[in-house]
Order: sequence, then C-alpha cells, then structure tokens
Amino acid sequence: MWNYTDKVMDHFRNPRNVGRIADPDGVGTVGSLACGDALTLMFKLDAAGRIRDAKFQTFGCASAIASSSALTEMILGKTVAEAGKITNKEIADYLGGLPDQKMHCSVMGREALEAAIHNYRTGETQMKNLDDRIVCTCFGVSENEIRRVARENSLATVEEVTNFCKAGGGCGMCRNEIKKIVDSVAAERVQQRQPPAEAPRKLTNLQKIKLIEEIIDREIRPALRRDHGDVDLVDISGDTVTIAFRGMCAGCQASGATRHGFIEAKLRECVSPGITVVEEGRE
Ligand code: FES
Repeated sequence: MWNYTDKVMDHFRNPRNVGRIADPDGVGTVGSLACGDALTLMFKLDAAGRIRDAKFQTFGCASAIASSSALTEMILGKTVAEAGKITNKEIADYLGGLPDQKMHCSVMGREALEAAIHNYRTGETQMKNLDDRIVCTCFGVSENEIRRVARENSLATVEEVTNFCKAGGGCGMCRNEIKKIVDSVAAERVQQRQPPAEAPRKLTNLQKIKLIEEIIDREIRPALRRDHGDVDLVDISGDTVTIAFRGMCAGCQASGATRHGFIEAKLRECVSPGITVVEEGRE
C-alpha cells in the first residue's frame, strides 16, 4: 500500500472536473493503455483568454487520477501562458507530495497539459520532435524527455528516472543509456554552478589528498552505490587521480561517462579545476 497524503486520497476519491468538453480549445492525450497510464486533458478559454473550464479522463492508479484532478484545479483561471509554466513538481506539491515511485503521474499531467497547449496553438494533435530519439522502447520515452525530467527534478540515478517517467522500468535494456544521460545532465549542473566568489584556496599536497578522499566518500560513492556500483581511490599523483570501479560500475559501458562526466567534474568543482581522473589499468 502506498503512503498517500490526505489530499491525494481526497482527489482520488472525489476527482474534480472528470469528463469531456464538447468544443474544447485545446486537447492533449499522453501515455497509453499498454503502459498502464493514459490521460486526456482538455480546456476551454473565456473571452479574456483565461481557462474557464478544464476536464480530464484518465486510466491509471490513484496517483494518476489525483494528479489529473489537481492539474485541472491548478489551471482554472490561468492564461495559457501561465498554465504552461506549471511543472510536475508543482503538481506533486499541490497534492502534498507523491511517493517517489509515483512521480511519473505528475510528469504525465505536465505532458498532457503541454500537449493540450500545443494543440491549442497549432491545431496539431501530436507534439513531433524529429530530432528526438527513443531511448526506452518499452515505454516509448525519448532522450529529451529523460534529460528534461532529470534536469527539472535534479535526478541522479537510473531508479529516479524510472520513478519519474518509467524509462528503464521494463526489460532494462536501456538502463546503461539512461545512466549516460543522467551523468551528462549532472555534469551540466556542475558547469552551470557559479564559481566561488573568493579566490581558490592553495592546498598543500596533504590537504588535497584528504579533500579528494572526503569528496569521494561524501559525494561520489553514495551516488554510485544507489546504482549498485562503487569506486576505490587507487592513487593521486599531482593533479592525476587514479580510480578503480567496483560493483555494477566495473565493466559498465557507461563507466567512461561516469568517470569523466561525474567523478572528474565533481573533483574539479570541489578540489581543483586541473584534476584529471583516470581508471586503473586503462590509461
Ligand atoms: S527498453 Fe527501457 S526498459 Fe526496456
């Protein structure tokens, strides 16, 4: 039994705005019955361009029904531009939170709203992105969708991505690919962070070694262990840090991206921008 908030249970038992609008201005459908969740959202504008009516029909679990119901309440009275800024996190927050494994329901709500707004603006029933590629064929989830949920929700592991958009939750063939995407999004986050205002400290060799060990223990190892991997510090010579992957990371095809995009980026951020990370026996 999931641990649902009172508000989720209220929206599940007494869903608001269920049904269809006879002549909607925007309609969006996402998900599929084959994947277990599907949602159609529609809205009608008033003369001032504000959403005066919103209705939904959904097939899914209590969280999917509650998220859809909450979303219709959230968009009523808003302009299309205002509604378009609603994030999946805001839908979950409106409900007092969702279980981690059910966050994909809030993402489905946000996607349905975007599809309905796209339909209103273009008349098209499908949002096409010809440059996008499907990463998870089991659930039809594309690279851009994975990047977006990872960016917007600060996701760090494959399991978290599965919770938010289902990708990786079927046969598992796409999990290495998802890991690469998550690592590259993590590297983006590191690059985007502002450099510290004060001049970087000049570390002694001993301070640098201790700081590297501390960052590996505190920041890097826990993230890898969430995906059943691990890393050992083998040697430090000048700015070159030699590591060895353990567990699921050892032999993983994505280990190069993890080493460069996550471990090296983290050590450069926290210790010294000149650090290079190499893998024992590889370089
Ligand atoms: S291809 Fe992603 S779980 Fe099967």
